[in-house]
Amino acid sequence: MIGKKVTAALNLQMNREFYNARLYLSMAVYFHSINMEGAAGWMESQSKEETGHAMRLYKHLQERGARILLAAVEAPPTKWDSPLAAFEAAYEHECKVTREFDEHLELARAEKDNATISFLQWFVNEQVEEEASVDAVVRKIKMIGDHKGGLFMLDRALSERKAKD
Ligand SMILES: [Fe+2]
Ligand SMILES: [Fe+2]
Repeated sequence: MIGKKVTAALNLQMNREFYNARLYLSMAVYFHSINMEGAAGWMESQSKEETGHAMRLYKHLQERGARILLAAVEAPPTKWDSPLAAFEAAYEHECKVTREFDEHLELARAEKDNATISFLQWFVNEQVEEEASVDAVVRKIKMIGDHKGGLFMLDRALSERKAKD
């Protein structure tokens, strides 16, 4: 039996993950608009993964017999000043998501919900990877600076990313 507080927190996070999917899709649109197809593809893969996160939460709620509530999803931003600004925004966003999962884990512990504690562990590990992969791109863009050839090569490297769930 899953408690009311944990149910509310996981429903909130499921809806946030759907927002995250749309945020990265919006970044993909931005990268297409500046002809960085590789970065756009990278963001599309990121978006798919976020939908996968939402569906993990959906499945957990479903399996626990909780009531699932799909909320209205806020529209994401549509413009960033530069590729660096977009990836920096993505990095800050992932740090925020990490804190969100830490809070859910604290709640699950307080509620002595062992199934949710165990379930959330996957996300805690995933967030380490999420922060690291975005930070790696931020560092590369900073290194490249205004060098157009460098940005072109980075875009090509980013196109090689494949989405996992
Ligand atoms: Fe996520
Ligand atoms: Fe993420």
